[in-house]
Amino acid sequence: MPEDLTPAHPVRAAILGTGGVARLHAEAVAGLDGVELVGVADASLERAAEFAARHGGPSVHPDLAALLEGARPDVVHLCTPPAGHAGQAAAAFAAGADVIVEKPPALSLVEFDRMQADARVAGRRLAVVFQQRSGSAVRHVKRLLDDGALGRPLVALCETLWRRGADYYAVPWRGTWAAEGGGPTFGLAVHQLDLLAHLLGEWSEADGRFWRIANDLEMEDVSRGTIVFESGVVANAVTTTLAARETSRLRIDTELATLELEHLYGHANANWRITPAAGVDPALAATWAFPAEEEASGHDALLGEVYRAIAAGDPVPPVLADPARAFEIVTAMHVAAATGRPLRRSELADPALRGPLHAPVEVR
Ligand SMILES: NC(=O)c1ccc[n+]([C@@H]2O[C@H](COP(=O)([O-])OP(=O)(O)OC[C@H]3O[C@@H](n4cnc5c(N)ncnc54)[C@H](O)[C@@H]3O)[C@@H](O)[C@H]2O)c1
Repeated sequence: MPEDLTPAHPVRAAILGTGGVARLHAEAVAGLDGVELVGVADASLERAAEFAARHGGPSVHPDLAALLEGARPDVVHLCTPPAGHAGQAAAAFAAGADVIVEKPPALSLVEFDRMQADARVAGRRLAVVFQQRSGSAVRHVKRLLDDGALGRPLVALCETLWRRGADYYAVPWRGTWAAEGGGPTFGLAVHQLDLLAHLLGEWSEADGRFWRIANDLEMEDVSRGTIVFESGVVANAVTTTLAARETSRLRIDTELATLELEHLYGHANANWRITPAAGVDPALAATWAFPAEEEASGHDALLGEVYRAIAAGDPVPPVLADPARAFEIVTAMHVAAATGRPLRRSELADPALRGPLHAPVEVR
């Protein structure tokens, strides 16, 4: 139980959008002492009412304006499709609320820049849900990498090998550039790319290619990207929605060890493995062991950190730093696919390159 949250003065939470992902938000809030779900709203009032009945009976509203007016939340969770996030965040900030927004936070970097500026001007927090960064195993691994305990990181692999069919794309906002903002590299692989970049730090150069080999959507079902980090690490990322055995994999080879993660949508100690290189002193390798006390990754862990910061009056916690990094990498992959050459991070300062994603998709 978070010590910083005081039940006597509960933080008032509200959820906009009561579809698929909203349940994870409501459950995380219910698990936090000192946070109360006071209102929900959805374009489908019926869906919102059913959701409220399952999650403690918060007030039910038809839209964001009514939610802000009627429930007076301190924090609004945006669990709506990405096209609405920027405008909804601006309205919530104007009403004095902090915002927790689901990934992807916006349809383009330029839109996300505006959301971050809106938060700054309003003096409110903007937290983006990249829950793969959360949990005790990532904290441990990041500390080992940051402290140099594994030696210099050299090479990495980042794989999102998932399967998505017609049922997944039946939701009205998925599968088009206009409504979803990008394909599976943007909408799905961004989780693994975000974790990779959370662990390896700032990137300097990226390229990408996108293919459509089996589906009939506007965007890719296979992509490949090479990302070079400022540290010199070269990472290759492969994404597909055509995998029969689904998995999410990350591998980082350092001077002293191979660090591996295999999971699907979430991880804990058992999903990670650190293999020492030949000749590494076993006594040194023993110091890399994962702590026995363990917290799995996920919405519970991430939102717990966010609410502890809110209750303490702190800014968003360090686990949420650099929320645009994976978004930038995917954008660079798209620009590189269009221009046929790798893009340097400094080139992304050009506002013309921060607009909506439109990679040329090679149809096979
Ligand atoms: N972090 C994760 O692991 C994860 C997992 C799934 C989805 N997501 C993200 O969460 C967001 C929502 O995805 P989902 O799968 O829950 O979608 P969904 O389609 O299941 O639910 C979206 C809900 O928002 C409602 N809605 C749409 N526009 C609205 C508006 N203007 N006002 C009020 N309600 C509105 C819809 O009626 C629907 O009930 C997306 O950005 C998605 O990428 C994140």
